[in-house]
Amino acid sequence: MPSLDAFWMPFTPNRQFKAAPRLVVSAEGLAYRTADGREVLDGTSGLWCVGAGHRHPRIAEAMKRQIDTLDFASNFQVGHPGAFALAERIAALAPPGLDRVFLVNSGSEACDTAMKIALAYWRSRGEGQRNLFVGRERGFHGVGFGGISVGGMTNNRRAFGGAMLRADHLRSTWDPRTQAFARGQPAEGAAMADELEARIVALHDASNIAAVIVEPVAGSTGVLVPPVGYLQRLRAICDRHGLLLVFDEVITGFGRLGAMFAAQAFGVVPDMILFAKTVSNGAAPLGGVIVSRKVHDTVMHGPPHLAELMHGYTCSGHPLACAAALATIDVLEQEDLPGRVRELAPHFEAAVHSLADAPGVVSVRNIGLAAGIELAPLPGEPGRRGAEVQAAVFDRGLLTRAPGDTLVLAPPFISTRSDIDRMVAMLRAAIEDPPPSSRGAP
Ligand SMILES: Cc1ncc(COP(=O)(O)O)c(C=O)c1O
Repeated sequence: MPSLDAFWMPFTPNRQFKAAPRLVVSAEGLAYRTADGREVLDGTSGLWCVGAGHRHPRIAEAMKRQIDTLDFASNFQVGHPGAFALAERIAALAPPGLDRVFLVNSGSEACDTAMKIALAYWRSRGEGQRNLFVGRERGFHGVGFGGISVGGMTNNRRAFGGAMLRADHLRSTWDPRTQAFARGQPAEGAAMADELEARIVALHDASNIAAVIVEPVAGSTGVLVPPVGYLQRLRAICDRHGLLLVFDEVITGFGRLGAMFAAQAFGVVPDMILFAKTVSNGAAPLGGVIVSRKVHDTVMHGPPHLAELMHGYTCSGHPLACAAALATIDVLEQEDLPGRVRELAPHFEAAVHSLADAPGVVSVRNIGLAAGIELAPLPGEPGRRGAEVQAAVFDRGLLTRAPGDTLVLAPPFISTRSDIDRMVAMLRAAIEDPPPSSRGAP
C-alpha cells in the first residue's frame, strides 16, 4: 500500500480523506471493489462517465488492439485514422448542421476550446468586440479559466476572481417553490429564459456578446432540470439577436437522457455541443466540441500554410482515447443503451421519488438516469449533512456524490430495476440512520 501523502487529490477534502481513506482497487459492470474486498455499487457512473459499465469487454479489447498498433501520434501536422473516424462518427450522431469536431482531453478543455472558437468566429466576421460570455448561476463548465468564468458555482470561483474572462450570468432555472418534487421537466418556468433578452442583451447589447453557454440539465449542482420550453426560448432569443448558443453536454451527451444528446431529447439545436465523460466510457480521457458547419467554415481562412485556429493539446485525439470512444459508440448503439435508459427512466423516477418522505428530504428531481435528492442543511453548516450521508452510504456499499446537501444518483445505463432498488434502499437507510452530527436535524 503506497503512502497517501504525495498525491494532492482533486476536489477532495485531502486531510479528511487521508485520515479515513476510501480506496477502490478494481471494478466490473456496476460495482467497484474496495481495498478491503467490499463491493460498492457505482451510483455515479464514475462521475458520469461509465454508462456502459466498468471494463466493458469490447472497449477493453479495442484499447488493447490500439496500444499494440499505434500507441501515440499527435494530431499536429500528422494525423492518424482513429481521430478522423471518431470525428466522422460523432458528427453523424449530432443534430443536423453540427458536423465538425475538435477533440480535447476533458470537459474543461472542451469549454475553453468552445469559447476560443466563438471568439475566433466573431473576429473572422470582423466583430472582435463580441467578447462577453453569458453563463448561468449554478452552471458548471469545468475548471479552466473560461469554464469558471461562465460557470456559476461560487466555491469554484471564489479564489480565482482576478483572472476571470468577461461574463454575465442568467439566473439558475431552479425554483424550489414550484420544482421541489418535480418529476422530469418542471411544467412552469420557461419565461426564466426571457431574462437573456430583457436584462442581459438590454444591458450589454448583443453586439458585445460572443456566446451563451449553458448545460441543458445542470448536473454538478445537483441535477436541475430545465422547465418545459425554457431551452426553446433561449434558442429563439439567441436567433433574434444573432448570439451563438453552446450546450455543455459533458454530462448529458452520449445517452444519459435516453438520446445521444440532450439537444435531441429536448428538440433544440445549439451552435456548438461540448462533450466528454461517457464518450469514452471513462476508459481514457477524451472530450471535444461539435461545431456547426457555419461556425467552422467562417474560421477556415487565412494563409494556407498557417493553422486557422491556434489551439490544441498534445493529446488532442489520442489514439487510445479514440479507440475507446469508437468502441463505446459501438456499444451504445449495438446494445441500444439510450433505449435502455428510456425504458428504465420511469422506474428510476418512481424509485428516487419514494425518498420524498425520508427524514430531512426537501427536494427530489430527476430526468433520464440522473436524480438529485436534497437534504435540509444542518443549521449554519451547509454541505456537512450531504458529505456525512455520502460517507455513510459508501460504508453501506453505494458510491454517490454530494454537491452541497444534495445527493446525486446517476447509475450506469446497464443497471437493472433491482440494481436501482438496491441503490435507493441504501440511500434511504443512510438518510434514516444519519451520523451523530445530523441527528435531530429537521
Ligand atoms: C457540465 C460539465 N462541464 C464540464 C465539466 C468538466 O469536465 P472535466 O472534469 O472532464 O474537465 C464537467 C465535469 O463534471 C461537467 O459536468
